Amino acid sequence: MSNRLEPEPIPRRDFLGMASMWSAGIAVLGSAIGMARLAKPSVLPEASKRFRVGKVSEFKPGIVKVIAEQNVRVVCSSQGVAAMSLICTHLGCVVDKTEAGFKCPCHGSIFDETGKVLGGPAPRGLLWLSVSLAADGSLVVDKGKEVPEGQFFEIT
Ligand code: FES
Repeated sequence: MSNRLEPEPIPRRDFLGMASMWSAGIAVLGSAIGMARLAKPSVLPEASKRFRVGKVSEFKPGIVKVIAEQNVRVVCSSQGVAAMSLICTHLGCVVDKTEAGFKCPCHGSIFDETGKVLGGPAPRGLLWLSVSLAADGSLVVDKGKEVPEGQFFEIT
């Protein structure tokens, strides 16, 4: 007679049958979870780093356009159009415009009008970014593509 302290032993056949049922159940459950996860991409596409800043005809020498949502400053001179990042190269704060250039509000790095470091902890100047012309006549800035300081995109 069995009780809670001395349960009857399970026959080997019953134990193996239950074990195989549990194994099959776990395999089916694991497969179902895997199939459900397939529908959702595990790598999400990154937002494009390229964006339009306006028609090329809008850019005349002396025009300065700040694209605040992208933290980019676009300048047009007689040399062409250039884009400069407004992200501090120290720890990534957005720099503020000053009379002589830019100043980082976080740790005080100072940059001149062309982004050169004049003081502070920033290890290098503000990044100059690639500017190109799209087929529709818009100028496109690519935040993922750095160009040498002083490189302007010629517009004719
Ligand atoms: S983040 Fe600009 S100086 Fe530190």
